[in-house]
Amino acid sequence: MLKLRVAVVQFTPVFGDPRRNVATMLTLLDAARSAHVVIFPELATTGYFFQTRQEVAALAEPADGPTLERLQREARWRQQVLVVGFPEQANNRLYNSAAIVLPGSEQCVVYRKTHLFYKEKLCFDPGDTGFFVVHIPALDLRLGVMICYDWRFPEAARTLALQGADLIACPSNLVTTAWEMVMPVRALENKVYLAVANRTGVEERNGERLVFRGKSAVYSYNGSVLCQANAEETTVLIAEIEPEQTRTKAFDPFDDIFADRRPEHYRL
Ligand code: ACM
Repeated sequence: MLKLRVAVVQFTPVFGDPRRNVATMLTLLDAARSAHVVIFPELATTGYFFQTRQEVAALAEPADGPTLERLQREARWRQQVLVVGFPEQANNRLYNSAAIVLPGSEQCVVYRKTHLFYKEKLCFDPGDTGFFVVHIPALDLRLGVMICYDWRFPEAARTLALQGADLIACPSNLVTTAWEMVMPVRALENKVYLAVANRTGVEERNGERLVFRGKSAVYSYNGSVLCQANAEETTVLIAEIEPEQTRTKAFDPFDDIFADRRPEHYRL
């Protein structure tokens, strides 16, 4: 059975300094060089706590802009899949997005955050991509992405799992602790691997302080923790996964969590 290595990168982006953040990300990529897939936090290139749309517009880039192009070159050279949170400018809109950067492709694939959190609602447009899965034949991997607050909506991970995701990448800037109870359950209830790349540090803007909680982790399809960082360290954690294990949803000869579903009794 094919084994893959998934890295989650945890660090403290500096607000408003994409050059410095990308330099840090490239250094951390060196530590992740044995991984097939490397996942960075939400808005990793710029920091998080935007106050206005104007502030986002000043730093947002299209998916084929210089920052993603730089990371694309890196992915090609390193032959790695990268998942990177960044503020995206597209069609006169501003999205809190994650790029899936594929080593064999000139263009990245972009997921735009569906559920905006707190003051993101003042600064970004709600994502319009919906949830989708990218098949990466060279790795025999089906990869889905949700971003941070999307975790509060079980429909997000369920939609990705129903589309065949083996691994859900979750670039995050988590500021509460409830997710630690829930993320492993999202993995278990969908029988998928789930990798949370969360940031660390504090951002204070206009007298309001956000503390980011670290504890990035990779969860197995049975909800167990494969690796987990502490709340404050800058680190790269690497876990081994077997994507094929997620493709039968049975956990004993009688019980299959997808075949046993009764959607006619559910309300969305
Ligand atoms: C979050 O969605 N950044 C909590």
